[in-house]
Amino acid sequence: MAQTFDTLMKYPAADEGLVREAMEAAIGIVRADLPVFTDRFPSSNSFHGFYEATENVEWTTGFWTGVIWLAYEYTKDDTFKEAACVQVDSFFHRIENKIDVNHHDMGFLFSLSCVAAHKLTGNEKARQAALMAANHLAGRYREKGKFLQAWGSVGEAAEYRLIIDCLLNLPLLYWASETTGNGQYAHMAENHIRTAMKCILREDDSTYHTYFIDMETGKPSYGVTHQGNRNNSAWARGQAWGIYGIALSFHYLKDESYIRLFERVTDFFLCHLPKDLIPYWDFDFDTGSTEPRDSSAAAIAVCGMLEMAKYLDAKKAEKYTGAAKRILYALIQACGNREPAKSNGLLLHGTYARDSKENTCKNRGVDECNTWGDYFYMEALTRSLTDWEMYW
Ligand code: GLY
Repeated sequence: MAQTFDTLMKYPAADEGLVREAMEAAIGIVRADLPVFTDRFPSSNSFHGFYEATENVEWTTGFWTGVIWLAYEYTKDDTFKEAACVQVDSFFHRIENKIDVNHHDMGFLFSLSCVAAHKLTGNEKARQAALMAANHLAGRYREKGKFLQAWGSVGEAAEYRLIIDCLLNLPLLYWASETTGNGQYAHMAENHIRTAMKCILREDDSTYHTYFIDMETGKPSYGVTHQGNRNNSAWARGQAWGIYGIALSFHYLKDESYIRLFERVTDFFLCHLPKDLIPYWDFDFDTGSTEPRDSSAAAIAVCGMLEMAKYLDAKKAEKYTGAAKRILYALIQACGNREPAKSNGLLLHGTYARDSKENTCKNRGVDECNTWGDYFYMEALTRSLTDWEMYW
């Protein structure tokens, strides 16, 4: 175990001046990126520091639109609003024509682009797009097992499983219930997180990445990793999805039993951080390892802790806010990009996927920026500066 909570609290915390300086640097890069990334989108990860322009495909494009909305909120500059609205039209087209949506990642794609647009500007087309996406996601709900199937064709035996990342897709369903008055969406989301937390959280408070469900009985069957180092290791980003995912469901459901779950998943994450507080891509690796980092996991965890702190008693809120500010300090100093000539991304040192003996991945986006790392970094900065009303 690399950290105790007491040692963690001895690290410097991000103060307003540092956060504002980091935000200004990030906004400058976003502004410079807009001419290329308005009609098109950044690739999921950078290549030697630079994103390439792609169509609106994969699970990752919504993060960039979310970054633009955050830049708009901070600056109130309509240039950002106009660019984000162009992208909202692209998301409407994507869901209407079912382009690359045979998966569960509707929340990542549509909460940060279209729900955000509707919340910030009342854009009705954005609301329609987000509702189409929520309906599409609801179509992946499996009554046998009560969960949302992550990948593959719905009901396909080889892919009858859930993954921890899906917790971030649930807010789209909670939002759909709120905006339509139809409680079915939230009901599915609530069932999904119940099923997920029953099987993905291990006794030592680490988490499985994915868990298969028995198609005949609906009972949890067995866990395997997809992007972690081992089936039984804790993939750093997966653990972070757990932290923020539980906080987001708590926001909507206020189920007190989730407080303990949040503490377990979060305390594991904090206690296994290396000495410089930037996690390696899997918690199998610790201080001194030459394995790559995943800065995005840290940014996601910071957002989750800052969200959950709103609902905790003062002592626990102070604990998690304190931890979040310290990790944010480390992120700003070690990973916050301030040099557009070096990268057109915001958060350096992420890892999309790293191959290992037990996973099925190829190296991808190793020690690079990725769009979700950029987004959660901007969200963490925003949360530190304002009483932010979230897009989730
Ligand atoms: N949700 C996919 C990932 O975190 O890589």
